[in-house]
Amino acid sequence: MVNQTIPGREPAPLDPIALSKSLAPFGESSMLPREAYTSDAVFAWEQRNLFEAGWICIGRVEEIPNPGDQKAVSVGRAGVFLMRDQQGTLRAFANACRHRGHELLPCGQPAVNRPIVVCPYHAWSYKLDGSLRMTPGYSSETFDMSAYGLVQLPSVEWHGWIFVDASGDAPPFDSHVAGLEQIVAPYEPERLITKGSHDYVVDANWKIMNENYQECYHCAMIHPEFCNVSAPQSGANYAHPSEGAWVGGWMELREDMETMSLDGKSGASIFRGLIGEQQRHVEYIAIFPNILISLHPDYVMTHLLTPLGPNRTHIVCSWAFAPEDIAKEGFDPSFGMDLWDITNRQDWLACESVQRGMSSPRAVPGPMSSDEDGVYQFVTMVARAYLGEQVVAGAVKVS
Ligand code: FES
Ligand SMILES: [Fe+2]
Repeated sequence: MVNQTIPGREPAPLDPIALSKSLAPFGESSMLPREAYTSDAVFAWEQRNLFEAGWICIGRVEEIPNPGDQKAVSVGRAGVFLMRDQQGTLRAFANACRHRGHELLPCGQPAVNRPIVVCPYHAWSYKLDGSLRMTPGYSSETFDMSAYGLVQLPSVEWHGWIFVDASGDAPPFDSHVAGLEQIVAPYEPERLITKGSHDYVVDANWKIMNENYQECYHCAMIHPEFCNVSAPQSGANYAHPSEGAWVGGWMELREDMETMSLDGKSGASIFRGLIGEQQRHVEYIAIFPNILISLHPDYVMTHLLTPLGPNRTHIVCSWAFAPEDIAKEGFDPSFGMDLWDITNRQDWLACESVQRGMSSPRAVPGPMSSDEDGVYQFVTMVARAYLGEQVVAGAVKVS
């Protein structure tokens, strides 16, 4: 395909020659320049151009299920206000009152349920569709209420996750997840219920966690519990013929292992939509730039990444299960959570060490092994974005 420059996207403050090394063919390329992981200027560029412009996952539909539910979430440096109207339609708006810009709700709190939206500053109020309802002290005869509705942003509910485009001018969402439907749909993530989550703050750049997720080259070294249930050399990555902004692959469970848990036993049942090999696989899918979706035969784990700075990232890891499993007496989600909490912490220690290593002025970007084709795909997506181009993974030739 021809790489297109995205109109209006400025190139990142990075050396284009160093970036061209990241875009060399697989086997000859280098990791991103070290400043990509350490520079305040690059981080600010990413906030403007990747997180505040483009499709970002901001959570689960189940967090805001009912008419009147309202919630605000940080996206980049700003906030997005979510609200479900009386007909059940989810809408996203800039989290800024049309009067003098006060936030409608503080970001990061659980949803509240209210019949209208009331700004906490001067009590302008809005209907659940975002239109202005009342402005204390203004005459409705002389003031054009219709001109001051909340600023709506594109939003999508996709398999139980909420995605927003805070810029309002990203390409259609379907192109962002092109090629993923057939992988994700059999798990029916939209009907699953989150039964556990962990919050982590990791002293590492958000891209290091993405890169770590894309390879199991490290698994034999740092993940003994993981390797007991899934062989690190098993499976493969998708060669990525599609143009979606994602990277992924699958791994196999070892014989006699039912799922990813400390003893390989499942505390749930195999999802009803899975057939054949799907029942023995775990799919690992990273949708650019901030959500990692791990599809197990019996549960779905999600990592949602929020960058806090060039060397700090907030991660929410959550586990969702089928309603019929949760309804069983004595259901306990810890069978899936415990293995992954151990594995997560092992990964975060490695990622923090990479961050410290890359912070050395003498650190030089290294090559990728043949097992790191997923890392190559992610790195090429980022490098293209840095050059102002479309976020598309570099093709890995399969021999
Ligand atoms: S800023 Fe919201 S009512 Fe004044
Ligand atoms: Fe790992």
